[in-house]
Amino acid sequence: MNKVLAFDVYGTLIDVHGVTTLLTEMIGEQAMAFSNQWRAKQLEYTFRRAAMGGGEQYRNFAECTRAALVFADTLMGTALTQEQQAQLLAIYASLPAFPEVADALGALHTEGHACWAFSNGTLQGVTGLMEYAGVKDHLDGLFSVDSLQTFKPDPLVYNTFAEQNANGEASRCVLVSSNPFDVIGAKACGWRAVWVQRNEQNVPDDWELKPDQTITSLNELAAAVASL
Ligand code: 2OP
Repeated sequence: MNKVLAFDVYGTLIDVHGVTTLLTEMIGEQAMAFSNQWRAKQLEYTFRRAAMGGGEQYRNFAECTRAALVFADTLMGTALTQEQQAQLLAIYASLPAFPEVADALGALHTEGHACWAFSNGTLQGVTGLMEYAGVKDHLDGLFSVDSLQTFKPDPLVYNTFAEQNANGEASRCVLVSSNPFDVIGAKACGWRAVWVQRNEQNVPDDWELKPDQTITSLNELAAAVASL
């Protein structure tokens, strides 16, 4: 049966390594540690906002990213200027796609599957990023959690995506993500899930909910989806 693939964006379709390159120019050898701290706190802020019930407590992904940048800068004592912070936030809107993305999406369309971007980012942010990275024309659509005023792994985001794009059939939905928390959230909602373990530093969570397939790049995705 034709499946509906939902692709996480940051770290799955989009290579966020460019952030580290700019950080290295700004703060030298602390760049990788800073980048990891920034990403961890960015995601922590989304989890906290969702756990607090979203709504009035909700702030969008761009604000979570900004606040996490300020936190990392303070924690690490890097004393980034306002201009440097603006440059780092701007680069989030202009990162490249991983090299295999266009061909991988083409192969999935040849098999009759639909391919969506599925992201915590705002619709405006994800649209601009997909256009910049040359991916948007290979997608059937873009889904942002922003209108739901919550974040992954809130079941609401997976269930709403299935309702809107797979006639409510969770088993037709396949999450493709480099983020273990995202894989677990999708599996908890009855989806299939493919974990993209792009490097060995991506350590899995030892949870009862496991990915159906694990791949190291999207070149392996069509075969993985065929086996689901
Ligand atoms: C996303 O794109 C945060 O990578 C996550 O939704």
